[in-house]
Amino acid sequence: MNPIDPALATSLCGIRLRNPVIAAAGAFGYGVEFEKQVDLGALGGLVVKGLSREPIAGNPAPRLLETEAGMINSVGLQNIGARAFAREKLPALARLGAAVFANVFGYATEDYVEVVRILEDHEGLAGYELNVSCPNTQHGGIYFSSDPALTSEVVSAVKRVARRPVMVKLSPNVSAIEPLALAAESSGADAISLVNTFIALAIDPHTRRPRIGAGFGGLSGPAIKPIALRLVCQAARAVKIPVVGLGGIATGEDAAEFLIAGATAVEVGTALFWDPRAALRIAAELGGFLRREKVASVSQLVGTIQL
Ligand SMILES: Cc1cc2nc3c(=O)[nH]c(=O)nc-3n(C[C@H](O)[C@H](O)[C@H](O)COP(=O)(O)O)c2cc1C
Repeated sequence: MNPIDPALATSLCGIRLRNPVIAAAGAFGYGVEFEKQVDLGALGGLVVKGLSREPIAGNPAPRLLETEAGMINSVGLQNIGARAFAREKLPALARLGAAVFANVFGYATEDYVEVVRILEDHEGLAGYELNVSCPNTQHGGIYFSSDPALTSEVVSAVKRVARRPVMVKLSPNVSAIEPLALAAESSGADAISLVNTFIALAIDPHTRRPRIGAGFGGLSGPAIKPIALRLVCQAARAVKIPVVGLGGIATGEDAAEFLIAGATAVEVGTALFWDPRAALRIAAELGGFLRREKVASVSQLVGTIQL
């Protein structure tokens, strides 16, 4: 395992991270699949793919599409369910030494609560990340993430059962991010993370059909970075809880930009599709950036944007 670079070590709502670069949900499976290729213990942390109450088979193929500057996906949150995850994957993850976060989703508030309840009975997790970019089927399909009252409802309910820190992952598909960030904070969220993917569409002009099996998908990767940075900056200015920034991060300097915009830590998603070691490389590059800029520690970058 690589030695810890003290300039990179940081903490996120009381969770110690070797470095501020975390593998994002959905881009790194359950983590353990990469054990042979990646020194998982050297990661700042990893977020496992979204977990639901029951297993979900996911959407029809094609599920992924490479675009000019990123990717569109509609995997449909395929997963083995929280119970099987706890039984089959978590014991190996718990031995890693990296902070492991469970990404949690559902279609009703009780779904989120139930997943967290199941996971609370098991050791090995540092915290939860609630993916609120899901339609609430009990409220006519309105996204939890687009309505401050629904965001508040799910966060408060989860906080009542969670012993571990709860991070709320916000959607960028809103006209103003501040009300959602504030709703998460005032309902007890320990941190927020943003952004999830941007709802997108790709069409094959010959068949006139969407290029993604499910129709619409989520855009991620370098194409979204400037918009994600703006949203992270606005959210960080609105709340006092830590913000985790993501969206198109592919280099150490990208990560530095998110920290400067106000993020305490960052996540890396799409970049892991072309290089499973990207999170480690980005952390090393961030270390190099700090040395070149003569910044003693990563926390000294956070929120230093000169706007
Ligand atoms: C194939 C794929 C699957 C994803 N699955 C999840 C998921 O299960 N839960 C979640 O909160 N976000 C999920 N995301 C969103 C990413 O975690 C991330 O928020 C988004 O892709 C933006 O970051 P990036 O540009 O670095 O990929 C997924 C993204 C991709 C590309």
